[in-house]
Amino acid sequence: MNPRLDLLHPYPFEKLRKLFAGVTPAEQRPIRLSIGEPQHATPALITQAISDSFASLSAYPSTTGNDALRQVIAEWLKKRYALKSLDFATEVLPVNGSREALFSFAQAVIDGSKQDALVVCPNPFYQIYEGAALLAGARPVFLNQTPENGFGFDWDSLGDAYWARVQLLYICSPGNPTGRVMSLDEWKALFALSDKYGFVIAADECYSEIYFDESHPPLGALEAAQALGRDGYPRLVVFSSLSKRSNVPGMRSGFVAGDAKVLAGFLRYRTYHGCAMGGPIQAASVAAWSDEVHVRENRALYRAKFEAVVPILQPALGTTMPDAGFYLWVRVPGGDDADFACRLLEHANITVLPGQFLAREARGVNPGQGFVRIALVAPVAECVEAAQRMARYLD
Ligand SMILES: Cc1ncc(COP(=O)(O)O)c(C=O)c1O
Repeated sequence: MNPRLDLLHPYPFEKLRKLFAGVTPAEQRPIRLSIGEPQHATPALITQAISDSFASLSAYPSTTGNDALRQVIAEWLKKRYALKSLDFATEVLPVNGSREALFSFAQAVIDGSKQDALVVCPNPFYQIYEGAALLAGARPVFLNQTPENGFGFDWDSLGDAYWARVQLLYICSPGNPTGRVMSLDEWKALFALSDKYGFVIAADECYSEIYFDESHPPLGALEAAQALGRDGYPRLVVFSSLSKRSNVPGMRSGFVAGDAKVLAGFLRYRTYHGCAMGGPIQAASVAAWSDEVHVRENRALYRAKFEAVVPILQPALGTTMPDAGFYLWVRVPGGDDADFACRLLEHANITVLPGQFLAREARGVNPGQGFVRIALVAPVAECVEAAQRMARYLD
């Protein structure tokens, strides 16, 4: 077997199962706020489009996807981010969810002949970035996001010698778990580093459509590149998904968009990888990217939950609204996130994810330590009940 498999860390939910093994939950209805799985209903326009296109199952789909799908995605991107130019034929590719693409991208981008390749990841982070780097033969290095740096990025905390070895950098905005949206100034600094050292930026934007103010959608990476007057999208690829935007995590549909040269290489890799998107999923994706009504309704549901839950948790936990996304990243009283999660299960039958499971120790600290991630994915009433039980327990 590939010895690199042994480098992979257990997934956070495996760690959670182990942590909870000896805990007896309170005798109340269980409420699970640990996993970031959307639970709103899938819009009928999507299921209808799938059942209308079963005939396409009789043909092999192409790895590039149909022109119709790539055109709809390009149009969506242009509208969403006011982009002046984006070529659907060379700057867009459909993928089977952003997770698949975030993983396979590293396999296509990393030059394994260089022994000392580095991949930069945020910390805390989505664990796929680390696994992708390790299996591609690179070493992950972490940029800590802490209250001290406003959960932003201290680019200077990595020295010149490190940056020179970086081949790929993952970034997540809006972030999981912090919900933080990167500013234009942060993008400016990051693009300057990429220009200086030549690394590729993988911008994970799978939470871009979950935000609270309809008039202020989160800034996107392609939008930032355009606003900063860059010539196209050099070494920049964004990863987006229908899973959260359209409540179809089971459909496995997303896209990558950006640097045509990088995408040409990625397409070559994908042809061998065998990850073409099936015809009915492509048809359903066209329907989903063409409609914003269901997306606004979806956002309204999340907004209602945050508006109800944050004031309940604020007095005991100091909880504030995130910039975007559907997580609360909360500092726990006492500072022991694993113990806090166990006590919450024991006293309130609520499951949350200890922050240390979402981060690695870097520069002497695990920046997830002392935090828990609360995913507001359950229905509004359930989220409110969970918040009330938490507040009672903390009282
Ligand atoms: C930060 C982040 N990126 C990517 C994904 C993958 O989403 P999907 O593969 O459904 O697009 C997730 C899923 O939870 C996530 O939290």
